[in-house]
Amino acid sequence: RSHEFYTGSHQAGIETEPQRHCVYMTFDLTTTSVQDLQVLLARWSAGIAQMMAGRPVGTVDPDRSSAVPQDTGEAYDLGPSSLTVTVGLGPGVFDHRFGLAAKRPKLLADLPTLPSDVLKPELTGGDLSLQACADDPQVAYHAIRDLARMGRGTVNTRWTVMGFGRASAGKGQSTPRNLMGFKDGTRNIREPEDFDRYVWVGHDSEPVWMRGGTYQVARKIRMDIEIWDSSDRGTQEGIFGRSKGAGGPLSGGSEFTTPDFHKMVAGKPAIPAKSHVALAAHENNGGIKILRRSYNFTDGINELGQLDAGLLFIAYQNDPGHFVTLQRRLGSADLLNEYISHIGSGIFAVPPAPKPGHYLAEGLFA
Ligand code: HEM
Repeated sequence: RSHEFYTGSHQAGIETEPQRHCVYMTFDLTTTSVQDLQVLLARWSAGIAQMMAGRPVGTVDPDRSSAVPQDTGEAYDLGPSSLTVTVGLGPGVFDHRFGLAAKRPKLLADLPTLPSDVLKPELTGGDLSLQACADDPQVAYHAIRDLARMGRGTVNTRWTVMGFGRASAGKGQSTPRNLMGFKDGTRNIREPEDFDRYVWVGHDSEPVWMRGGTYQVARKIRMDIEIWDSSDRGTQEGIFGRSKGAGGPLSGGSEFTTPDFHKMVAGKPAIPAKSHVALAAHENNGGIKILRRSYNFTDGINELGQLDAGLLFIAYQNDPGHFVTLQRRLGSADLLNEYISHIGSGIFAVPPAPKPGHYLAEGLFA
């Protein structure tokens, strides 16, 4: 199936039911010309629209043998494969370089240092982000590759994660599992009312060009797979607060039963107070909900021969402060911390999708 780019409403790839694969990449602007940035966003818009419709961004097979193909060609014949490409603008777009400081959304700033951060500088930040999701990994990769190619001379690549296997669920989808073997996405945001309340920037918010947009937080989270794999089921279930097989809360019931955080068993909470879900649940965190749209990733094996893998955690919320509040809680207490490390991080403002005849974030240059 194909998704539309020029909706004039929210960008695709957020409320869209998560596709099977994702390639995520951030970029540094190497230009100091605001016009270059404008042209890049216009070219990216046109290119993304083409690719989401399953078309190449230019000639794959030029008539003249001396001509360089405009599209690299590896997605030719693969169709749209549900491709969506979601574009984000990092805090750097609004620094001194481009004269756009007055246009910076107040909520867009580098994330503060968070408890249990072990961020690697080379996996952090970026002036622009692209999240390409598709049901065929080659279609997602092709999109990122050709957009990076279009950006040459204006942007350099900064960090990237190749996600395989969705680890989140949208409306009507079955819940997949992350690499720890647990169902992930059970209590994700699904209903349109929750999107309006927690994800989309409201129609009375500032700046005007961000209305209908959202904020993206990406974290590359490494899992200590070997240690996890040697822990027993009871320990694993206590860490998440859910059962491994069916994914139901430890307070009882099936996958979608509402957890009962007050239920006691043998004098202890059935769902441990420091379990991942007890700390993250909206009932216990002042009512915050975020949209999680994560993917599993692997980088093969590390220099010690251990499996190098984890979760490309991508969250969307209309206030990045909601992610910060949650991660402060999780980072300082979550039982899961013994098995994970946050090694990459980025924050981006995600403007709404353009209307036909327009380009992404055009309002920023008005
Ligand atoms: C729930 C896994 C990181 C926020 C869950 C669940 C699992 C899970 C298995 C229960 C099923 C569900 O409701 O989706 C993981 C893993 C992580 C990770 C393996 C890291 C490798 C994070 C981070 C945040 C977060 C960084 C936010 C800062 C949440 C929230 C819920 C949740 C809000 C729903 C809690 C509820 O309402 O019951 N996660 N998670 N998670 N997680 Fe994570």
